[in-house]
Amino acid sequence: MSVSNISLDLPSNDCLLSKLNMMNKSKIQKNLTTIELGKNIFAFDTLESTNTYSKTLNQTNAPHGTLVITEEQTGGRGRLNRRWIASAGENLLFSVILYPDFDIQKAMLLSFVGALAVTDAIESVTNLSSTCKWPNDILINGKKVCGILLESTVHHSEVGKLILGIGLNVNQTDFPDDLRYKATSLRLESGKEIDRIVLLQKILEELENRYTELSHFPPSQIINDWKMKALIFGKKITVLENEFSFAATAIDVNEDGSLMVQTEDGSKKNIVAGDVSLSYS
Ligand code: BTN
Repeated sequence: MSVSNISLDLPSNDCLLSKLNMMNKSKIQKNLTTIELGKNIFAFDTLESTNTYSKTLNQTNAPHGTLVITEEQTGGRGRLNRRWIASAGENLLFSVILYPDFDIQKAMLLSFVGALAVTDAIESVTNLSSTCKWPNDILINGKKVCGILLESTVHHSEVGKLILGIGLNVNQTDFPDDLRYKATSLRLESGKEIDRIVLLQKILEELENRYTELSHFPPSQIINDWKMKALIFGKKITVLENEFSFAATAIDVNEDGSLMVQTEDGSKKNIVAGDVSLSYS
């Protein structure tokens, strides 16, 4: 079902802004150098999910580049029906609404565009180097610091609205038991509190640059840059696909963003949706 045409009676944007909200529109837009991204902002204290909310907006009230951001999510969503858990007021939880002027195959690479923008912004603001894990996780020292959820509305193979949802652990220092050894934050890795506004602005600026690059150049350029930041190629991995897992070697990323692997019997297979982890044997 497409949701791009649903329009709701929304309160005016200013009513949604709380004085308590550190992520307010004027702070985000001050010194922001983008041309389109972040020029229109919906900022909240609490929201079920920025991706879910973005689906309810139509192109008139949320044009290309609209940012939906919240301090806390009550139903944050991850890939493969997972939940995204992040403490309130310490992280970056946002979605950018995009109306791509390119084909669906290129549009599916927007999660790589998002990952490159985030890794470049992390490096420039914190000096930390981060790596990419297929399909769209960002890791520091082997732990997840950021997840990206790309959702789209497609009509007869035409891309409509794309929602690029980004959850980045910034200043959170305590994680629930089941995440403690898998997740990290920029503060834990750098030992310093990070200015979330400066980081968000840098991500939006990098995202706009990378988006323009994808729009004007062949997809191989973005894929090659992403591959330079991914550590899995030529290595033994465990692939999780449709709830089954199997051992393989990561070979390459195809132009549609799928992962090419070689299974243990020597055959090649393209993974379109799933998860991978490095095997330590
Ligand atoms: C994943 O790693 O599985 C993707 C996680 C994506 C989380 C972000 S937080 C902002 C946006 N809103 C959501 O509900 N999810 C994304």
